[in-house]
Amino acid sequence: RPAWHGLIHAYGDFLPVSDRTPIVTLYEGNTPLIPVPRIAERVGRNVSVYVKYDGLNPTGSFKDRGMTMAISKAKEAGAEAVICASTGNTSAAAAAYARRAGLRAYVLVPEGYVAQGKLAQALLYGAEVIAIEGNFDQALDIVRVMADTYPITLVNSVNPYRLEGQKTAAFEVVDSLGNAPDWLCIPMGNAGNITAYWMGFCQYREQNRCDRLPRMMGFQAAGSAPLVNGAVVVHPETVATAIRIGNPANWQRAIAVKEASQGAFNAVTDAEILTAYCLLASEEGIFCEPASAASVAGLLKLADQVPSGATVVCVLTGNGLKDPDTALQQESDRFHRHIDPSEATVAKVMGF
Ligand code: F0G
Repeated sequence: RPAWHGLIHAYGDFLPVSDRTPIVTLYEGNTPLIPVPRIAERVGRNVSVYVKYDGLNPTGSFKDRGMTMAISKAKEAGAEAVICASTGNTSAAAAAYARRAGLRAYVLVPEGYVAQGKLAQALLYGAEVIAIEGNFDQALDIVRVMADTYPITLVNSVNPYRLEGQKTAAFEVVDSLGNAPDWLCIPMGNAGNITAYWMGFCQYREQNRCDRLPRMMGFQAAGSAPLVNGAVVVHPETVATAIRIGNPANWQRAIAVKEASQGAFNAVTDAEILTAYCLLASEEGIFCEPASAASVAGLLKLADQVPSGATVVCVLTGNGLKDPDTALQQESDRFHRHIDPSEATVAKVMGF
């Protein structure tokens, strides 16, 4: 097998790049598709369930797939600075790739609603971090105006190169399974990723690399579910801050994907998200961030609708290390603190 040098190197034939494109890469992509038999057992019906663990990308989320393309193309076009609005992961990826390319990076985030790890990354990678006293939707409105007004490239998922890069995750799923799955379960925020996956599956289908297309099953947090409710959510709320979005930029495209794939959009509550988040960690050894667990929470919720014997892929979009605060809040009662440093006390705590 050839060495992995990033997804543009691997899938360049399917991407809008040329010999003149300066490839900015951190060797993203090639993430594992991992079976999760305990989750499959809970679903029942002899289903096979896998997770696409995109939290293993260089900055810890699927955003790296889009950012290697967006920043390479920005560099090719002679840009000197990029900007994005973000619930955290996009800002980390934009900062890393922009700085690697020698570009300035400006990121607007909703103050108080970005997981600690993501903020730490954006700052350390060298972005100008601007926390606004507003939410993601307001930040996106502002950066769109900035990019229209000043010489600065927008790298949110409305930048077409972002989705081009992200579609490679679907290629990898098909390359691993030998075909497309029956169901693809995915969390939705701005709905760029579900759009990108569908582009990837369709492109591979056209090339006869798979002989079917999945049903695209999108999940939103119940307090931030505009695509499920069919209406903008003015004050989105959820523990899954990555998908705390009330007015998705890719709204129309997501609806088109749902219809073309005979998929469905559903909401999962914060309690359901946190249950799936803890199950993945404690029963499968897989630590994802809360927003990512929405895909598994959704599958468990719709278990009785999965065709028997089906193959299901749940996308785990981000690494659990991004959000240590939420993790620690879940298991605080099992954290034995202030223990006397003696064998007798430790044995007692252990239950002997
Ligand atoms: N999961 C994670 C971990 C995310 O960070 C995001 C989006 C999504 C799922 C949803 O993906 O927007 O393509 O539907 N995060 C963006 C950000 C909004 O700014 O990092 P989507």
